[in-house]
Formats: sequence, structure tokens, C-alpha cells
Amino acid sequence: MRVIKKIKDMKVLSESIRRSGESIGFVPTMGALHKGHLSLIERARRETEHVVISIFVNPLQFSPGEDYRRYPRPFQKDMGLAEGAGVDIVFCPSRREMFRNTPLTSINVEKLCESLCGPFRPGHFQGVTIVVAKLFNIVRPSVAYFGQKDYQQAIIIKRMVSDLSFDIKIRVLPTIREKDGLAISSRNTYLRPAEREKAPCLYRGLCAGKRALDKGERDPKEIKKTIAREIKAVGVTPEYISIVDTKTLQDLPKIETCAVLAVAAKIGSARLIDNLIWRDNRNV
Ligand code: PAF
Repeated sequence: MRVIKKIKDMKVLSESIRRSGESIGFVPTMGALHKGHLSLIERARRETEHVVISIFVNPLQFSPGEDYRRYPRPFQKDMGLAEGAGVDIVFCPSRREMFRNTPLTSINVEKLCESLCGPFRPGHFQGVTIVVAKLFNIVRPSVAYFGQKDYQQAIIIKRMVSDLSFDIKIRVLPTIREKDGLAISSRNTYLRPAEREKAPCLYRGLCAGKRALDKGERDPKEIKKTIAREIKAVGVTPEYISIVDTKTLQDLPKIETCAVLAVAAKIGSARLIDNLIWRDNRNV
């Protein structure tokens, strides 16, 4: 496994791989690798010839007061996990290497940034799009892999790739969960034991919403109430509960054949998000 810290070196390497006609599968990460990342790496290994991951805690996607400073950075452990998972190249630039100057360019994927987490994390998705676009230009992947847990992020990146004609396929793979349903996330490490016990309430709420839809309920207000009941039952206050269109991410006034059920909540000092996609199987 090669560990590359300089943009110039990564560009030379990706250029030589591409020139030899071989494909690059790319998993961008902020490190603190977990089973979710490993599932993306595994798929990249199956589908592409060279697997590159990036490890970079991107300051531009954290708002003031968020957890940039304390975001976990277990570098040696990550190296072991990446090596064990069969990663070929780890690109891990320093903050100075990536953003010597704060970028004056911004990529605003309008509308898609405005719902769900958008209002609660101003500037977050612009921070994500600029770093991902920059990483795409450095790593030059054929395929890039993202998790469904960050559904809004994945849809925004897909749209950016299409709007800016990046020659990259975006794969969005299922959320990996703990046994009790909690979506695996690097931020779960912030949870104290009592908070960890409460945390699966997000998934329980989403499942309750999905069951109500399966039984025929179609009023988003009722579904939201069902989800909220499960979450509030353990004393957690949701930041939002939304039922949105799978492509536009706009709130659905009425649920028809499919929808994303999405929630966010702060539990202790961890801001957690989760979602499920519901499809009406009766139409299949
Ligand atoms: O999902 C993440 O870990 C980050 O948002 C990403 C895509 C690596 C960009 O910093």
C-alpha cells in the first residue's frame, strides 16, 4: 500500500494508471475508518483495478462550533484497516497541502443543499462539494463510492458530477448498521454509554415510518408523527424529520410510489443522521 501526501505525487500516479488503461476506484473519507468505509472499499476492489482512498478531515465542511478539532484522527489504526482491506493507495494530504489558500471558488448545488441538513449546517455542502471536486481532479477516479447514510451528500455529488461533466460514475451503497440498527458513523464514538443505548431510536423511528407506509398510510404528517413517537420515547428531540423526494430532496406533500424518510438528532455531543428509502412494492 502506498501512502501519498503530496497532490503532485498523487496526480503523477493517477495519470500513469489512467494512461495504462486501468481503472481507479475511489473512496473519499475523513478517516476514522469503520465497517461502512470498508464495505465501500470492498466494492471498489471488486469493480476497479486500483483502489485509492483519501483521508482528509476537511475544515471547509465544518461550521464554527462544530467538531472539526475533536474529529477522531486514528491515523495508524486507519493505515492498518486500509492495508487489511486491500487499499492500494492512501492519499492523505495535510490541511496546508490541500488548502494553502482558502478557495475563492465555490460549488453550490442549489436546491439540493437547501433541505434536510442544509439549514442546520450552513456552508456544509459547499465545503463538501469543493473538496470532493478537488479530490476528483487529483485522484481522477473512474468510479467513486459513497454511503447511503449521507444520502443528501450523495445526491448533491451526483448532481455536481452531472452538471460539471466529470467523467466519473458515482455508486451509492447501503448503510451499514450495528446489530441494534444504529447506522455506523465515525461520530458514534462521541456517544457515552447511556447515549449509545438511546441512539438506535433513529432507526427504530424510520422503521416504524416505513411499516406505516407499507400498511397504506400516505400522509407525510402522520408518518412523521409515527417516527417522532419512537425517537421521543427515549427522550431524544429530533432536529428534523423529513419525508422527501428521492431525487429533488424536496418535502413531499403527499407520498406516492417512493420517498426518503430522513432524520437528524443530537444525542449528547453527537449529531446523528439516518434515512431509509421506501418504495411501494405493490407497483413492482
Ligand atoms: O462523507 C465524508 O466522509 C466527507 O463528507 C467526504 C465525502 C470525505 C468529504 O470530505
